[in-house]
Amino acid sequence: MDTFTPAGTILNGASVQDALMSARAVNVFYATKHAVKNVSLDIARHQVLALIGPSGCGKSSFLRCLNRMNDTIQGARVEGLITLDGQDIYEARQDVAQLRARVGIVFQKPTPFPQSIYANVAYGPRIHGLAKDRGSMDELVQTSLERAGLWEEVKDRLSQTGTSLSGGQQQRLCIARTIAVNPEVILMDEPTSALDPIASAKIEDLIDVLRTNYAIVIVTHNMQQAARVSQRTAYFHMGDLVEVGTTNMMFTNPQQKLTEDYISGRFG
Ligand SMILES: Nc1ncnc2c1ncn2[C@@H]1O[C@H](COP(=O)(O)OP(=O)(O)OP(=O)(O)O)[C@@H](O)[C@H]1O
Ligand SMILES: [Mg+2]
Repeated sequence: MDTFTPAGTILNGASVQDALMSARAVNVFYATKHAVKNVSLDIARHQVLALIGPSGCGKSSFLRCLNRMNDTIQGARVEGLITLDGQDIYEARQDVAQLRARVGIVFQKPTPFPQSIYANVAYGPRIHGLAKDRGSMDELVQTSLERAGLWEEVKDRLSQTGTSLSGGQQQRLCIARTIAVNPEVILMDEPTSALDPIASAKIEDLIDVLRTNYAIVIVTHNMQQAARVSQRTAYFHMGDLVEVGTTNMMFTNPQQKLTEDYISGRFG
């Protein structure tokens, strides 16, 4: 049974066995604006969870709760319980930098630092002390770029600036930067919406490969993309989690009229 107390009943499909992350009765407020309403949802390893819904429904707000990015927004308040490996990520002793290494985030607009490709990837490992010498840093940079599907394109130009790359390459560089600190979860907020179809397709292929090693949560406005890359889909509407289930079920046999209207393009 998908039930949980004291928050009350949670939706069928919201919980999974062996969840890596669990959100329970999560609310987000910006001053008096109630942006996320009592959302309970699990995140599983080796799986892509897509968050879909009309603009302003709270997808990004919910996503940002998962690595405490809302902490950086003045006036934002988060309530509820979010755990990673059973540990409350909002408790006082949680090191937030550490959390954001374990739960990395990739944004809509590629945001490389104005430094070399190498330095972009090495930045996180350096801060977190993950490489003991230059040789192991070189190796970490290479494997991160390989995993992000970018190595072959940049191996001869590692000292050029990250901003000299194409948009799609920059986004893969940002993914490499996230991977370099050895995360467990990768959050992506509309990671392809600034990219052309070919660059987007490369990122989608990459997401499918990455899920063997990471849990992934992706926000997307693109229904086809959600259908292609995710195994589970959650539909948000005006701050509420309306429905969540296997992507196949959500797209072929949604249980809620709101979901059906949205995925069939009747609004949104
Ligand atoms: N920093 C903020 N300050 C005040 N209100 C905010 C802030 N960020 C978001 N909101 C409000 O919270 C609600 C949810 O916004 P959110 O960005 O989470 O939606 P979204 O589903 O990601 O939308 P989109 O698809 O357009 O990105 C909206 O009404 C939005 O105006
Ligand atoms: Mg958003």
